[in-house]
Amino acid sequence: MNESILITGANIGLGKETARQLALKKETKKVILFCRNQAKAEAAKKDLEEQTGKKVFEIIIGDVSDADSVRKAIEKIKEPIDAVILNAGGMVGKTAGRATPSGMNELAATNILGHVILVEELIKYDKLKKAVLYPSAEAVPGVKMLGMKPVSMRTSSIDEFAGVLDGSYFGNKFDAVQAYGYVKYAATMWMLSMARKYPELKFVVMSPGNTKGTLAPDNLPPAMKFMLKYFMMPVVFPLIGGMVHTLEVGAKRFVDGISDERYKSGVFYASKEGKLSGDVVDQSTFFTALKNTTFQDNADKAIHRFIK
Ligand SMILES: NC(=O)c1ccc[n+]([C@@H]2O[C@H](COP(=O)([O-])OP(=O)(O)OC[C@H]3O[C@@H](n4cnc5c(N)ncnc54)[C@H](OP(=O)(O)O)[C@@H]3O)[C@@H](O)[C@H]2O)c1
Repeated sequence: MNESILITGANIGLGKETARQLALKKETKKVILFCRNQAKAEAAKKDLEEQTGKKVFEIIIGDVSDADSVRKAIEKIKEPIDAVILNAGGMVGKTAGRATPSGMNELAATNILGHVILVEELIKYDKLKKAVLYPSAEAVPGVKMLGMKPVSMRTSSIDEFAGVLDGSYFGNKFDAVQAYGYVKYAATMWMLSMARKYPELKFVVMSPGNTKGTLAPDNLPPAMKFMLKYFMMPVVFPLIGGMVHTLEVGAKRFVDGISDERYKSGVFYASKEGKLSGDVVDQSTFFTALKNTTFQDNADKAIHRFIK
């Protein structure tokens, strides 16, 4: 039972819908909307209050791609929180490959940097009581039918993971669509490493599945965005079946991930092999690199090269 939950990137998309669903649970007393933009956060809070009839929402401003911004935001968290959902992220858009002051590129910094600092500092200051959920993606094990290849790193060494985080792993041509799966893999492995380090807390990795109604497609290159929005999502995926679902269904995976005892710490749950919707299963049953504890710890060590 989680009474207080913090969600990053909660002003739109899956984060906002997750906030709505959690607020409607009778045990929920506080939902912190951790957003980078005050006006967007306030608009989301107002809308969520109207939709749910609940006055449980609070705002904390922070940019998850910026270590200092996250550290300042943590100072505003006075009471321990039950659960944290590390939702902010995605493919970022045109600036994904640009270096941030941490040394990670924007893609990795947005999906990983601030989230690692947030969780580790909350634990350090005894401000996290129960659960952490990280949204990974089916891009990690890949989806054969769509030509999405599984993430395949040569060695999963610390150096290789560090190359994924600063972009050097991908050579001169940085393609955020390809790099996205590798960044989510690094974050997933960090979560699995944390699950072993902190057995008293629950660390669940959960893909929301292919979810309609978010702003995620807007960060794709124009041709891909057009194809996905106007052809794949409305025409092709519904025909194939098991490939797309609504915002409510995607966000429910997050809500269940932190609330339901069926979901265990140290497991990456996503759609069945080759699917993007439907039931979720433990991905390590067919993507076996997830089980390798050395790889998990290598991801953790590589991430910490960028955290001063
Ligand atoms: N949609 C899918 O089908 C899908 C599938 C697999 C995984 N996921 C994952 O699910 C999560 C949510 O995706 P979504 O589709 O809901 O995305 P979205 O609609 O694009 O929303 C992303 C949210 O993250 C926030 N955000 C982005 N960068 C941030 C930063 N540096 N600091 C703070 N907040 C930041 C955005 O805030 P602004 O409004 O200020 O930009 C927005 O609130 C992501 O981690 C994504 O990778 C999504």
